[in-house]
Amino acid sequence: MASNYDNSAWFYDSLSQFVYGKALVKAQVYLLQYIQAGSNILIAGGGTGWILEEITRLQPSGLQITYVEVSAKMTALSQKRNTGNNQVTFINDAIEQINPANDFDVIITPFLFDNFTVQTQQLVFNHLNSLLKPNGIWLNTDFQLTGKLWQSVLLKCMFLFFKIWCNIETTQLHQVEPCFVKNGYYTIANKTFFANFIISKAYKKK
Ligand SMILES: C[S@@+](CC[C@H](N)C(=O)[O-])C[C@H]1O[C@@H](n2cnc3c(N)ncnc32)[C@H](O)[C@@H]1O
Repeated sequence: MASNYDNSAWFYDSLSQFVYGKALVKAQVYLLQYIQAGSNILIAGGGTGWILEEITRLQPSGLQITYVEVSAKMTALSQKRNTGNNQVTFINDAIEQINPANDFDVIITPFLFDNFTVQTQQLVFNHLNSLLKPNGIWLNTDFQLTGKLWQSVLLKCMFLFFKIWCNIETTQLHQVEPCFVKNGYYTIANKTFFANFIISKAYKKK
C-alpha cells in the first residue's frame, strides 16, 4: 500500500529543518547544477515543492517539469510555488502508475527510495529507468549508513515515526546504488552531507 504523507504535509519541512538544519535542502540543491537549460525534467516525490523554487532560482525559464507526488496535500502545497516561466505539469499519483508521452532528460528522486521495500524499489527504479533518455541525468539524494551508531538510531526513529504517521511500507533502508550499477549508470558527481549520513549523486545513463 502506498504511503500517505498527507498527514505530515503541514509540518514536514519544519520537522526536517528541526532535525537536519539546512542539510536536506543543501544536499538536493547541490545536484541542480547538473540540469541543462531547456531540459525536460521529471521530479518524483518532491514533497512540499520547495525544490521547484530552487530550480527556478537557477533557471527561471525554459524548463519543462513533470512533478509527480502521491500525496494530494503535498501536491497542493507544491502547486503554490513560484516556478517562474518554467512549464510545470503536476500529477497527483504514484510515480509507478504514470506513463508520460515523452521521455525525460533529467530525473530527480529526492528521498524517494527510502520509502520502499526492495521489491517496490526495484519496480520504481525500472519504471523510472525506462522514462529516462539515453545519456540522461538522474539526480538522487538519500540517506546512507556508514557504520556510525547514531545514524542507525536516527534512521530507526525516522522509520518508526513515518511508519506510524504516514504508513510507509518499509522499516529498513535499502541502498539503491546496486540498481544504478546493474543498469550501467556512471556517477558524474557525488557529495555527502550531515556527517556522511546523506548522499547526493548525479548519474549519467549510457
Ligand atoms: C521523505 S519525503 C521527501 C520529500 C521531499 N523530496 C523533500 O526532500 O523534502 C517522500 C515524498 O515522496 C512521496 N512519495 C512516496 N511514494 C511515492 C510514489 N510512489 N510516487 C510519488 N511520490 C511518492 C511522498 O508523498 C513524500 O512527499
